[in-house]
Amino acid sequence: MLETGSPEYAVIRNYLDWATSLPWDTTSADNLNLPRAREILDADHAGLDDVKERIIEFLAVGKLRGGVAGSIILLVGPPGVGKTSIGRSVAKALDRQFYRFSVGGMRDEAEIKGHRRTYIGAMPGKFVQALKEVGTKNPVLMLDEIDKIGGSYHGDPASALLEVLDLEQNADFLDHYPDLRFDLSEALFIGTANQLDTIPRPLLDRMEIIRLPGYITEEKVAIARQHLWPRQVERAGLQPGQIKISDAGLTALINGYARESGVRGLEKQLGRITRKAAVKVVQGDPRRISLGPRNLAAFVGQPMFKNEPPQRATGVVTGLAWTSMGGATLDVEATQVHTKNQGFKLTGQLGEVMRESAEIAYSYVSSNLSDFKGEPTFFDETYVHLHVPEGATPKDGPSAGVTMATALLSLARGQRIKVPAAMTGELTLTGKVLPVGGIREKVVAARRGGIRTLILPAANRADAGELPDYLTQGLTLRFAEHYSDVFNVVFG
Ligand SMILES: Nc1ncnc2c1ncn2[C@@H]1O[C@H](COP(=O)(O)OP(=O)(O)O)[C@@H](O)[C@H]1O
Ligand SMILES: [Mg+2]
Repeated sequence: MLETGSPEYAVIRNYLDWATSLPWDTTSADNLNLPRAREILDADHAGLDDVKERIIEFLAVGKLRGGVAGSIILLVGPPGVGKTSIGRSVAKALDRQFYRFSVGGMRDEAEIKGHRRTYIGAMPGKFVQALKEVGTKNPVLMLDEIDKIGGSYHGDPASALLEVLDLEQNADFLDHYPDLRFDLSEALFIGTANQLDTIPRPLLDRMEIIRLPGYITEEKVAIARQHLWPRQVERAGLQPGQIKISDAGLTALINGYARESGVRGLEKQLGRITRKAAVKVVQGDPRRISLGPRNLAAFVGQPMFKNEPPQRATGVVTGLAWTSMGGATLDVEATQVHTKNQGFKLTGQLGEVMRESAEIAYSYVSSNLSDFKGEPTFFDETYVHLHVPEGATPKDGPSAGVTMATALLSLARGQRIKVPAAMTGELTLTGKVLPVGGIREKVVAARRGGIRTLILPAANRADAGELPDYLTQGLTLRFAEHYSDVFNVVFG
């Protein structure tokens, strides 16, 4: 009865459109055929065996219990390791619809729970939008970047999300816009994050965490060979017979141009190569293009990373760091500054905790110097500058304690470390070495950096024991309970 030109008309019409287009009753049948699921996961991803196994276990439990609802998976790892793409494969394996959206940067509760209709320009929240789009009430919903969810005076999206993910509550999820309860309990939620630290604890407690720690060179070669390279060749409009790249070429590309945890940078470089090749083909070069380590530079320029073993100079020691970008090797440098004063200076954009661990290392080394066969008065007469290069990498946490102590000791003894080792571990004032996180990521980073000897805290022995053989093969792992154990490895 309303006038079609009246604003009220559009509002009501729009509301009815939304309310009638939601999949109130439509579900898709789950496919819980495990061998087929494994085939799909294998076809889409090289490697990642433990991740695939976890997903198969998850599906098996779903099969026994008569449905996969009831658990929420969180995939954690650095960018470009395949989190999003694994999620997509899970949907494909289950024969479910897939919808992905980012909750990173969400600051307004209404983005999850919708606006009330009295609001001008009111919209439903992301979940209702997703349901309308996929047309089934049991899709796989991927919540990207859960670790970057924000909060502001518009309410706290994290607690709204908590409500959605709470299995007790989400059977009657209420979005303010339709203002009708919707049963979300059959949806499968998969979250992704780069790190766990910033995820609110109650949210974390609801999720089953699966880690993707980053790839070593051999894995990247396999991924490039099976997936990235064929895709880029096709994208450039080339025929597979017109261009090829050898395994040695891929390895050189990875080590020289794409030393990241994931494979996005690698894929970009492969794209550059195939585009350059396309130019050659169009210009009428009849030869088949064949790439190896020798002619890479002609396609992608000079390498960004040199393959040199870790530097061994007096006062320079390699540590292992772990950030949301994955593991990394990080040098610590200590030098003696020529002034008349005695003292200690710290640079490198270090966070609060890391500054403290530098001070602990300084106190520990300067007061125990005679135990480590240094000149006991060295620090009484010396102004020391400790620096951690690469200002752009965020650096914090206590795990560089033993590395900084070793750099100071190397300086005080006027001697390089004897073994090119990389190390990690928190140091206390009494010289105890405490456990640290991210062992697997750090081992991956050490491999990538060409390091063969690793010193880890003794309390991390169990973490190291869980690593697959292909990661630890050829590496020497040494464990330290006390700083003297570190000393014995590098100066003994
Ligand atoms: N193990 C793998 N096998 C095949 N392709 C992979 C693998 N890991 C990553 N990729 C590819 O790398 C790209 C980036 O992955 P993506 O899932 O977007 O990473 P993330 O979500 O972890 O940042 C995608 O094109 C993906 O298919
Ligand atoms: Mg992603």
